[in-house]
Amino acid sequence: MKIHLQALANAAVLAAAALTPAVSNAHVRICTFPGSPSTVLDQTVAREVFNVAGLTVSFGNRGIGDGDDDGISLKELDKVFKKQCDVIAGFPRSPVADGSGSKLLFSSGYLKSGYISLSLRDGGGQAGAPDVVAATYASPAQLIAVQQRDVELDLENSPELTVDAVARGRARRAIVWYPAVVAYQGKHPAQRFDIVSATSPYADWALVFAFDSKNTVLKKRVDAALAKMTADGRLAALTQAWSLPGGVKATQAKTVPPAFLDGPERLADSSQEGRFIKVDMSLPVDAPAFNKAQVAHGKTLYSSACAKCHGPVLEGVTAPALRGPAFAPAANSHLTIGGVFGYMATNMPADRPGKMRDQDYADIMAFLLYSNGYGASPNKLTADAARSSATPLNAGRSH
Ligand code: HEC
Repeated sequence: MKIHLQALANAAVLAAAALTPAVSNAHVRICTFPGSPSTVLDQTVAREVFNVAGLTVSFGNRGIGDGDDDGISLKELDKVFKKQCDVIAGFPRSPVADGSGSKLLFSSGYLKSGYISLSLRDGGGQAGAPDVVAATYASPAQLIAVQQRDVELDLENSPELTVDAVARGRARRAIVWYPAVVAYQGKHPAQRFDIVSATSPYADWALVFAFDSKNTVLKKRVDAALAKMTADGRLAALTQAWSLPGGVKATQAKTVPPAFLDGPERLADSSQEGRFIKVDMSLPVDAPAFNKAQVAHGKTLYSSACAKCHGPVLEGVTAPALRGPAFAPAANSHLTIGGVFGYMATNMPADRPGKMRDQDYADIMAFLLYSNGYGASPNKLTADAARSSATPLNAGRSH
């Protein structure tokens, strides 16, 4: 009889262990992004979700992207997961930046919220005054703002300052992520704003939990808890104040069609004509020469000045890909090398247009050519040679 009970007890222990693999009794360390306007929400939702999942949590922020106004790279996140966190709460995903280039795992979303255009409730701004639009530096807001025609940009260093720019009259409007308005109004309850949604491919974002690629068990438990809280209405109650209020109308702002989401349509769009030098098919000329040292230097420059929008390996993130068929097709390109160079040296990097040295642009061009299949030679590429090249930018033969 005694033996029997003991066996039963052992079996129960084993069964319990099998039901909660890997994370039984686990304590989960959760990080949020410091300075994010949604931190309060991220922590509140995390506490509830992990509670429902039967896990205890602690919060720590040390190190995630601290003091880096260019945001955080996926490589840095890898380190964060190794050292400090099991989960990152408040990870933003959108159709144009879904993190698919990373090895991270993502839960389903707990808040859908978008970028909006914000202005003072009682008009504000005299007729004829320049349309100054505030946006947070190096954020999607900046990309949305630069796509609007006839506006003057006021770049601010944080979402809070961006809202503040409208409150204090530094700008007539701001493009800002809606939770930043919620956070601002929490501190300044008397402030009244008008809000319209910013129609842009960069506008729609969802917050999710992010996990290291190995943490499939934890991800499943979190997803199950989120599903449960969605079904019983608890999630909606927690996030209600942070979601866009119903009845927010689309802005009438004229926007430039985003070039990269729909390559073929762009070619059909005549308003884009003339941006690049037209390809003259009667002039079959060779691509201008460039050397290996330039490719290496161009790659370094690209990583620091361009990768955050165009992607670490030119694959395109919030800006178009700079390699592959959409950029350099196998044949019949509508872009010339000189056209691309001129456009890039005038308009890029989008957050500091035209601010780099001519030779640096030439080195980046060498890196772009090399990345699209052109071979290096002993000769150096100058800015003048790049600018005057009428060669179509087709994919080069692989080196
Ligand atoms: C802040 C984000 C951002 C940064 C940084 C940035 N770009 Fe861009 N870039 C864009 C966006 C957005 C577009 C698309 C603009 C459009 O189509 O109206 C673009 C377009 C381009 C294009 C045209 C591509 C095409 O197929 O239309 C080139 C070339 C380019 N960028 C090169 C660069 C280079 C080189 C750098 C670094 C020196 C750089 N960009 C930095 C956002 C950025």
